[in-house]
Amino acid sequence: MKAIVVEEYGPVENLIAKQVPDPSGPSGRDLLVRVEGCSVNPVDVKVRAGKYDDYPDYYQHVPQPYQICGYDAAGTVIAVGPDCKLFKKGDEVFYSGSPIRQGSNAEYQAVDERSVGHKPKTLDMTEAAAMPLTYVTAYEALLERLEIKKGEQAALLIINGAGGVGAVASQIAREILNLPAVITTASRPNTIEFTKKMGATHVLNHREDLEKQLQKLNLDIPLKYIFIAHTTDQYMEVCARIAAPFGKICSIVQGQARMYGTQFMAKSLSFIWCLLGTKPYYQLDVESHHRILEELAELIDSGRIKCHLVNRLRLTVHGLREAHRIIEKGGNIGKVSLGLTEQGNGELFV
Ligand SMILES: NC(=O)c1ccc[n+]([C@@H]2O[C@H](COP(=O)([O-])OP(=O)(O)OC[C@H]3O[C@@H](n4cnc5c(N)ncnc54)[C@H](OP(=O)(O)O)[C@@H]3O)[C@@H](O)[C@H]2O)c1
Repeated sequence: MKAIVVEEYGPVENLIAKQVPDPSGPSGRDLLVRVEGCSVNPVDVKVRAGKYDDYPDYYQHVPQPYQICGYDAAGTVIAVGPDCKLFKKGDEVFYSGSPIRQGSNAEYQAVDERSVGHKPKTLDMTEAAAMPLTYVTAYEALLERLEIKKGEQAALLIINGAGGVGAVASQIAREILNLPAVITTASRPNTIEFTKKMGATHVLNHREDLEKQLQKLNLDIPLKYIFIAHTTDQYMEVCARIAAPFGKICSIVQGQARMYGTQFMAKSLSFIWCLLGTKPYYQLDVESHHRILEELAELIDSGRIKCHLVNRLRLTVHGLREAHRIIEKGGNIGKVSLGLTEQGNGELFV
């Protein structure tokens, strides 16, 4: 099959086209999927650059001698493993695959059905591929790690509201959790406008003093929850200052997360990591991603959760490199996805 691979970790030019063997199987609970859309997340960029550090030994577990990146996909099941129970040949699916197996930047991908959901009917393949990784991350952070209860009279602050994760976290906070105040951060007119469209009730500028801006909001409910989706270490001190006593702070971005010398102890604050890969890596509650994605498909088809795809590109080496550049520059809005049917020149996967 055709694939876009990394043989040597490094700059974006190291994403290259290669003819590789089709995935073997499918065995066990694997599905063999024909990839029709995939999206690019910061993890793709970090892995390709050789800088992914969410696990201390990540690069000891990756496929050799080349790695196919791509941790979000949508496509059609073309074969099922002997133990599959959830899907059949011909089903249209969307999923976020495993970071230690070959990814979705290829014509075909083998994926464990327990991490897969049926594709929302109202989204095309390019749109559907934008959803899984960011949605499951935001869902786990807000509902499972911060344990926010529906209708709580508390405020949530999302640091980085217009990025891929923040754009779905704000929707979950408003539409599913019905929080009265969902404050996000963004620093440019178009990111401010986008995060409002995605559900923010208030927007602060992360390039200015967050504490002062928050005081000006005069909230009449406590800031009990903070979700950090950018440069954790930049925000630890200010989070400790602005969080209400007994508040909870959850981060999805690796860092030192230094608490000593801040109000973390004084206010009895909790700090919680959230990593999408924890369940699959440690083989815990492995079917939960399937359940979250099945529920997401219904939420999308009923119009309650909106797709946050902003940039569509053709699934070629040129398109994939462009998507990596957009994320790497740091000003991304919503999501960047690639599809087989997107406009542009060039042979697919080449
Ligand atoms: N732990 C996990 O399981 C997990 C899962 C998914 C993602 N992540 C991580 O979460 C982070 C966010 O991912 P994403 O997909 O949302 O990223 P993204 O789409 O690349 O985020 C882009 C946004 O970052 C904002 N930004 C730039 N500098 C900032 C700063 N100093 N403070 C706050 N925001 C800033 C920009 O807003 P302005 O242009 O307005 O400044 C831009 O809209 C990444 O580091 C990613 O690796 C972790």
